[in-house]
Amino acid sequence: MPDIDSPRRRSLHGHWSSRLAFVLAVSGSAVGLGNIWRFPYVAGENGGGAFVLVYLVCVFAIGLPIMMAEILIGRRGRRNPVATMALLGEEESGTPAWRWVGIFGVVGGVIILSYYSVIAGWAVGYIFESASGAFTNATVAEVEGTFGDLIGDPLVAGAWHTLFMFISVFVVARGVERGLEQAVRVLMPALIGLLLMLLGYSMMQGAFQEGVEFLFEPRFDELTGGSILEAMGQAFFTLSVGMGAIMAYGAYLPEEASITRTSIAVVLADTGVALLAALVIFPIVFANDMDPASGPGLVFQSLPVAFGQMPGGVIVATIFFVLLTFAAWTSAISLMEPAVAWCMETLEYTRVQAASVVGCIIWLIGVLTVLSFGPLSEVRFLRGTLFDNFDYLTNNIMLPVGGLLIVLFAGWIMAENSSADEIDPEAGLVYRLWRFAARVVAPIAVILVLLNALGLFSSG
Ligand code: PHE
Repeated sequence: MPDIDSPRRRSLHGHWSSRLAFVLAVSGSAVGLGNIWRFPYVAGENGGGAFVLVYLVCVFAIGLPIMMAEILIGRRGRRNPVATMALLGEEESGTPAWRWVGIFGVVGGVIILSYYSVIAGWAVGYIFESASGAFTNATVAEVEGTFGDLIGDPLVAGAWHTLFMFISVFVVARGVERGLEQAVRVLMPALIGLLLMLLGYSMMQGAFQEGVEFLFEPRFDELTGGSILEAMGQAFFTLSVGMGAIMAYGAYLPEEASITRTSIAVVLADTGVALLAALVIFPIVFANDMDPASGPGLVFQSLPVAFGQMPGGVIVATIFFVLLTFAAWTSAISLMEPAVAWCMETLEYTRVQAASVVGCIIWLIGVLTVLSFGPLSEVRFLRGTLFDNFDYLTNNIMLPVGGLLIVLFAGWIMAENSSADEIDPEAGLVYRLWRFAARVVAPIAVILVLLNALGLFSSG
């Protein structure tokens, strides 16, 4: 029986070395393909402007309180998300059934990483394409051809997927605190620096005005129940909330660190990177008459055209895809951590065994996504290809439902004493605001968006 009488526990796997280390790790989880690959293409598919606005509202009104809830639950439980939810459920309401929220998250992380790794594999492949000069003075058609060849050949895409999974397992097997910290500390500023440089290029060479209008001029008539759900799903995905990744990291957070300040810093950094990426990409898209709604290939087809035209483009492109791979890598680690920590604590695997087994399962599921861009691209059902279905199921259903349960637990099931103890023992204004968001704003918003997407409010 765990020591239920003493809520202040020690983590089973050590601690982050400082508050900064934790901020870096959570930012590393949050900033990834979601910001640079997924945000621009989903915004493009959903018409820009109004979608971006709804996304921003979801990030701050729903994502931020849920992130705080995950960190506080994680730190209080100090175990993997499944054990933490079981333990706190027992403590706060006498039932360990809350463990299902953790299990749901572990499964969600496994599915997300299965396709995440495939996309990250494209980024790895692009490091080599860039370095070989494949994009120098390339036309739009040539760039599209290069992209099509890479994703369409299951052996090529599969090899990059395998390599990416391998490097992810490698880090997780060594323990997340080591390595991750230094990597994020150096590479995140480098990524932001490079994006700022590219922003300069887009401002001068791209159709900047058109890009800005597309992104920030809301055309509300284009907003549908489906696109509102897409915006909310993107908010969950980009902040890494709803599946226990942040909870797992919170388990290693030192007592004295402020949950509120940490969360706000991460949310701002994450949103900034997403907007920056979109501001770089859309002016290039419009300047080259490309289709903003072209789907998951958007970044991989638009940026190389620009790289091909700029002086020093080979080097800039290579560095860009190296940094993108790193950003994806630090997110992949956090996607695996709940499943790995769970295997270690429940099945008593060593970290190396747990990471290897989980990695193999994820790799196998990922092969389906590899095939869905090649030989199985015509296999379509429900939302589209296999990849489309994995993506929709996790981001638009599993993360919001998981996040809803987490925030309901933190807001309604946990005693006020317990949550205040983690966020602010004085229970001041910030705590009150969080509690209101966690009890009322976030749950109602998530439920309304889900019901709305089911068409329950449409009159026709
Ligand atoms: N937030 C990551 C990204 O934007 C993806 C992620 C989702 C990571 C869920 C962990 C958990 O790329």
